[in-house]
Amino acid sequence: MVAVAILAAGKGTRMKSDLPKVLHTLGGRSLVQRVIDSCHLIAPSRKLIIIGYEGEQVKQSFEHSSSLEFVEQREQLGTGHAIQQLLPHLQGFEGDLLVLNGDAPLLRPETLENLLQIHQKNNNAATLLTANLPNPKGYGRVFCDGNNQVSQIVEDRDCNAAQKQNNRVNGGIYCFNWSKLAEALPKLSTNNDQKEYYLTEVVDYLNPVMAVDVEDYYEINGINDRYQLSIANDILQDRIKKHWMSVGVTMIDADSITIDDTVTLAPDVILEPQTHLRGNTSIGAKSRIGPGSLVENSTIGEQVTALYSVIADSEIADNCRVGPYTHLRGEAKIEASCRIGNFVEIKKTQVGDKSNVAHLTYLGDATLGQEVNVGAGTITANYDGYRKHQTIIGDRTKTGANSVFVAPVTLGEEVTVAAGSVVTNDVPDHALVIARQRQRIIEDWKAKMAQKKS
Ligand code: UD1
Ligand code: CA
Repeated sequence: MVAVAILAAGKGTRMKSDLPKVLHTLGGRSLVQRVIDSCHLIAPSRKLIIIGYEGEQVKQSFEHSSSLEFVEQREQLGTGHAIQQLLPHLQGFEGDLLVLNGDAPLLRPETLENLLQIHQKNNNAATLLTANLPNPKGYGRVFCDGNNQVSQIVEDRDCNAAQKQNNRVNGGIYCFNWSKLAEALPKLSTNNDQKEYYLTEVVDYLNPVMAVDVEDYYEINGINDRYQLSIANDILQDRIKKHWMSVGVTMIDADSITIDDTVTLAPDVILEPQTHLRGNTSIGAKSRIGPGSLVENSTIGEQVTALYSVIADSEIADNCRVGPYTHLRGEAKIEASCRIGNFVEIKKTQVGDKSNVAHLTYLGDATLGQEVNVGAGTITANYDGYRKHQTIIGDRTKTGANSVFVAPVTLGEEVTVAAGSVVTNDVPDHALVIARQRQRIIEDWKAKMAQKKS
């Protein structure tokens, strides 16, 4: 059995923020959420989050996750003190405890799986993740004998000049045999420069303790300030983009593109400059997104183009052409082979196959059939100031330029709507509806006015 404990009680003073450090986001997920998600290959039987500074806020960020246990560390007296708080919670627990830093969000699930395997295979009391850093400043230094057996960990500020030369650092990620750790925890002292209880001191009381080097040392990067957060973002983006390029996605000016790691892309997708893909988004084969598009929590089919557009919480089926300057939001559903054009906003509306909504239109709370042609400037008046109402438009209907549908209203199939109509009543199939003042001409108006004046 494996339990995971995540250290998340610190304030993160150097972030200079009202928000606790672990709630800052990286690529759409909070730092601590990322750390939790990095355990998914291990499938721990218990997940304990040690909270302290603004603990309630950290707790609330997980409203929908009942599988977490929160352990309060009232005073932050050090990483060892934080883990001591687990003693009453894990009484009688038999198995291994994985300890993770809540501020190290770049850890790979495979790395944790490997660490745990090595730990269990060697029957270690503790196994820790280490790295050889070109610039080890700030990290605890790990001292080993030839066989990666750890003899000592010394914090940067406690190192003498010779010890500082060691660039093998402690990643702050550990596997412990819980019952052995539980015996060692009460022995911790505050005998160090910070007068804190250091978790790293347990290596003095445990045997054997093994160090395992991580291949990609970015994985242990701790976030302490906004600069490091931005560097972590660069590293994450680089990882995500390399992955998608390796499976056949083209990116033009990749540096100007951002992609959350929750996004999925099919082969031969082309991403143009200044395109941003967020949340639960997927894009089908041979689609071309951008330049200048933002797609969030949306599903886009194959061979779709979306130029300078904002698409949120929506679906677009195959072969659609979207933009420039289209805004789809709130469950817009565009079926196959549609053309959605310039300055069009569509909300909570379904548009049937092969329909055109090409210019200057707002469709809200509407259902359109197939092969509908929506004229320039068509508007659904869906809100009466109190409630939203539905507009239904049948197959092959054509709405004239500048027509307004005052919802609730239903138009049948193959209806023709005269330009400039304000439609307030239902229209049957195959009809023409004209709902506007007939044009009047007054001949010689100028002369008549001049006569009146004199
Ligand atoms: C720690 C390690 C160091 C390692 C580094 C890796 C110790 C003593 N040192 O140092 O060897 O190289 O991580 O990043 O463990 N926290 C609590 N309660 C506390 C103190 C800290 O929950 O009382 C949490 C913090 O919120 C943070 C994590 O523990 O998420 C690490 O604490 P931090 O103070 O950043 O430790 P480092 O000095 O970086
Ligand atoms: Ca740290």
